[in-house]
Amino acid sequence: MSIHDADAEGLQAAVRALAAGGLVGMPTETVYGLAATAADASAVARVFAAKARPTFDPLIVHLPARGLAAHLARWVTPTAAAWALRVTEGFWPGPLTLVLPRAAGVPDLVTAGLDTVAVRVPRHPVAQALLEAAGPLVAPSANRFGRISPTRPEHVVEELGDAVAVVLDGGPCEVGVESTVVGMGEPAVLFRPGGTPRAALEQVLGPLIAAADPGSRPRSPGQLASHYAPRTPVALAPSPLGPDDDLQGAAVLRYADGPALRGACAVEVLSPGGDPAEAARRLFAALRSLDAVGAPRIVAELCPDTEGLGHAINDRLRRAAV
Ligand code: TXA
Ligand code: MG
Repeated sequence: MSIHDADAEGLQAAVRALAAGGLVGMPTETVYGLAATAADASAVARVFAAKARPTFDPLIVHLPARGLAAHLARWVTPTAAAWALRVTEGFWPGPLTLVLPRAAGVPDLVTAGLDTVAVRVPRHPVAQALLEAAGPLVAPSANRFGRISPTRPEHVVEELGDAVAVVLDGGPCEVGVESTVVGMGEPAVLFRPGGTPRAALEQVLGPLIAAADPGSRPRSPGQLASHYAPRTPVALAPSPLGPDDDLQGAAVLRYADGPALRGACAVEVLSPGGDPAEAARRLFAALRSLDAVGAPRIVAELCPDTEGLGHAINDRLRRAAV
């Protein structure tokens, strides 16, 4: 395994590895993905093995922006392709995944046997170049199952080591949390909050129903309660911490700057000025570095802004704390 610059030579090494059925660490605007050729069932099986991911948890197929209509036609039904092309204007390429009725011939392993398939068009230029050269790729986040998603190339190496043939260095991820996952339907279903704000989607799709709502039928098999978890136990602070909280040696994840803290052994501030975009970008790297401190626990402040990226940040923190 090696980290390559994402120049012509690095891209060639990645394309060769993919063609040979190998796995590539692919930068996207959200998090780094563990990419394999989507149409190659043995390569897809290797993704599940490398992550120790249960095979009931389906993967996202990443498509190139160029020639999108033709690519969609290979993976989803004609009605779904028409709907996707209409509703993703302004969102694709970008941090939005659609769950759509699948076309015949889509490998069962990709969809975990469901009659739907998740597709997304990333906007990171390195992901786009790789997809154009190699064709559609499955790419779950490049972490071991249940762990913190990688937002830098070295995180991929930490997580997966030699299971990955090539990691392309696309720098730190610009968004920092995964794509928003939405299922086609009347109403459309919000499976996972993420990099595309719910309110922006609702302007196009009308009100979304959340898959997490009690009584809601549609489920996303990968939305397990415990996820994104450091090895250190995580406790949540619902409101900003202050000098009256005795932190007893905990490592502390603060959302924004605030009054001095008592008893913390390490502190990371996601965004001094409380900007949700900056906080999302830094979230996973900050959790990772607090995890390395060796404190008995991590105390994490929730984001006070529960719309947009704040919704995604709090979703990840809640799952890290289970
Ligand atoms: O931002 C992202 O989406 C990143 C980057 C690498 O593109 N990828 C990512 O993949 O987060 P992964 O595998 O870590 O998360 C995919 C999520 C899981 O929660 C999975 O259960 C859900 O999408 N999913 C995939 N196919 C689905 C389907 N057919 N129905 C419902 N949920 C699905
Ligand atoms: Mg993941």
